[in-house]
Amino acid sequence: MRRIAILSDIHSNLEALTKVLEDAARQGCAEVVCLGDLIGYGPNPRQVMRIAMERFHFTLMGNHEEGVLYEPVNFNWKAEASAWWTKDQLQSKRHDAAENRRFWKFLEGLPRYREEGDVLYVHASPLDPTREYLVPEASLDRDYMGLIFNRVRRVAFGGHTHLPGIFFPDRPFLEQRSVPDRFPVTEGKFFVNVGSVGQPRDGDTRSCYVIFDGRHVTFRRVAYNFRKTARLIKRIKRLPHALGARLAMGE
Ligand SMILES: [Fe+2]
Repeated sequence: MRRIAILSDIHSNLEALTKVLEDAARQGCAEVVCLGDLIGYGPNPRQVMRIAMERFHFTLMGNHEEGVLYEPVNFNWKAEASAWWTKDQLQSKRHDAAENRRFWKFLEGLPRYREEGDVLYVHASPLDPTREYLVPEASLDRDYMGLIFNRVRRVAFGGHTHLPGIFFPDRPFLEQRSVPDRFPVTEGKFFVNVGSVGQPRDGDTRSCYVIFDGRHVTFRRVAYNFRKTARLIKRIKRLPHALGARLAMGE
C-alpha cells in the first residue's frame, strides 16, 4: 500500500495545515486524508476547505462540520461562538456565491466513516463515529474496550479528542510520545488516535498527524507558527481570544 498521511482536527488553522502538508510531501506520502473537523475554532475556514476539496483523497464528517451545517449542540460557548462565525464565513454574501454553494454541497456530502478492507476511519469512535470522546482513561475499562474493538477488524483511525496515541483491546493507552517510529499494526487490533493538526491538546504545541503504509504507523510532530494563527484569531471580534491563547500552550 502507498504511504498515506492521516490528518484530523485541522480546525481552520491554515498555518498548521501548510506545514503538515509540506512535511507529508517530504515524507513521500502519496495521499492525504482527513478524519473531520476541518473547520471550527480557527481563522481560515475558506482556505482550509479549498485545500481539502482540491487535494484530500477523502474527508469525514466531524462534529464541527455537523455544528456548522445544522446547529452547534453540546458545544461549549467558545466552540459555539466559532461555529456561528464559521457558518457566516461559508455563507457570507461578501464571498463568491458559487463557491459558497460548493462549500455547502461538500459539507452535506461528507461521510461519517469509511471502511477499506480491514481498516476503519472515523472522526470520533467506532461506536459513535462523529461524537463520542474516546479518552485515554477509557482504555482501563476492559468491557468498554471490548465493545469498541468489536467494531474494529484490524486497525481503526480516529481523532476528535486531540490526544494522540494508540488504544489496544487488552493494554492501557500508549501515548504518542512513547510510540516508536514504524509501529506495526499487523498482529491484533488497534485504534490509533492521530491527534490534531490545528489545535493539539497534549501539552505539545506542534501539529500531529500519522503516516500509514498499511502495516505500520508513524506519528509526525510538526512545528508551525502558532503565534501567527493566534494573531489572526485576535483580529476577529467574534472568535474568543482564548482559542488563540490555547495554541501557545498546546491545550
Ligand atoms: Fe476537533
